[in-house]
Amino acid sequence: MVAQDPRQEVIQAWYMDDSNEDQRLPHHKNPPEYVSLDKLAELGVLSWRLDADNYETDQELKKIREDRGYSYVDFCEVCPEKLPNYEQKIKNFFEEHLHTDEEIRYCVDGSGYFDVRDQNDKWIRVAVKKGGMIVLPAGIYHRFTLDTDNYIKVKYIFQYLLHGCIALLLSNGLLA
Ligand SMILES: [Fe+2]
Repeated sequence: MVAQDPRQEVIQAWYMDDSNEDQRLPHHKNPPEYVSLDKLAELGVLSWRLDADNYETDQELKKIREDRGYSYVDFCEVCPEKLPNYEQKIKNFFEEHLHTDEEIRYCVDGSGYFDVRDQNDKWIRVAVKKGGMIVLPAGIYHRFTLDTDNYIKVKYIFQYLLHGCIALLLSNGLLA
């Protein structure tokens, strides 16, 4: 018997339905249509399961950062108590966009949804929980939302300092 990929406990993906209900709901199709981590990798979306209780000393994370040139980090904690204008902010996070560089996000607590478009422009919802780290490739259309638990703490990781600064300003509502 093949052991289950440990990433699947913290990262799951599925095709989304077309309903306009709350973005924080799972939005499964009926019946659900799951997407494998291999299929995500074909789209360039990479994933790891890491030890979120020890991210300061985690040698696996250190090696990934060294191998991939991920030099800069910061944290973003998103929940109604910590983010002014929460409802508006999470609508902003949910605006579809793309970057010219990778987006690297490591969920160290809580959970959230990173949605990406596949090669046919269909939305895939990538649910990430504590311990899940994903890399969205440059040029992929994506968006983010909290789920109905309304809490996530994310480690932002950047290759370039300028991009890190811009992302921080955006997440704090200092840039539109
Ligand atoms: Fe982004």
